[in-house]
Amino acid sequence: MDKTEIYYFSGTGNSLYVAKELQKRIPEAELLPIVSLLDQDVIKTNGKNVGFVFPVHALTIPIVVKRFLKKTDFSSAEYIFAVTTRGGSIFRGFEEIERILKKKSKRLDAHFILNMGMNDPKPKGYKCPTSDEILKMELVINEKLDLIQKIILNKEVSREEDSEYLIEFGYNPVINSILEKLVIGV
Ligand SMILES: Cc1cc2nc3c(=O)[nH]c(=O)nc-3n(C[C@H](O)[C@H](O)[C@H](O)COP(=O)(O)O)c2cc1C
Repeated sequence: MDKTEIYYFSGTGNSLYVAKELQKRIPEAELLPIVSLLDQDVIKTNGKNVGFVFPVHALTIPIVVKRFLKKTDFSSAEYIFAVTTRGGSIFRGFEEIERILKKKSKRLDAHFILNMGMNDPKPKGYKCPTSDEILKMELVINEKLDLIQKIILNKEVSREEDSEYLIEFGYNPVINSILEKLVIGV
């Protein structure tokens, strides 16, 4: 198996959980925390397989992940994947990653979205999940991670369409479209 590097960013642990679960499923995968790399003048990947795991922030990729992607030399990478965790809104960050990678003559071969609940108590209607809800979420996430594992190990091209954003979570199409223009400029 070619060397796999999983670069992760996690504010409150959801994406770290996912990164660790992926590491268990991919032989000899190495976990690398994005935040501790950012001070380096040059960041250079070593793996033939390179993955990013991070949360959705303001409908797109967190600023630190963007800085990391812009700064990093991905010459070693032959297969690149991304996994994002989110509360449930629309996510437009894979296009952003594609744009950055394209400038480095690379592409995002596979990407996945995992709904893991909101860690930010500010939105209206936020409620802390019960232990039961967390257990259920864990089951769903682990099933999905088994599928993701197969795709990565077979180096398949798999770009999941974002069709399941959770309207009940407080998604408002009008506010969202304004946010998209402000945050992403689309
Ligand atoms: C500053 C901030 C912005 C967020 N923006 C979004 C968002 O736009 N859409 C969404 O679905 N979730 C959003 N979330 C929720 C997180 O993406 C989600 O809870 C994620 O699983 C947290 O992962 P982490 O524990 O690895 O940080 C946001 C969280 C924070 C802290």
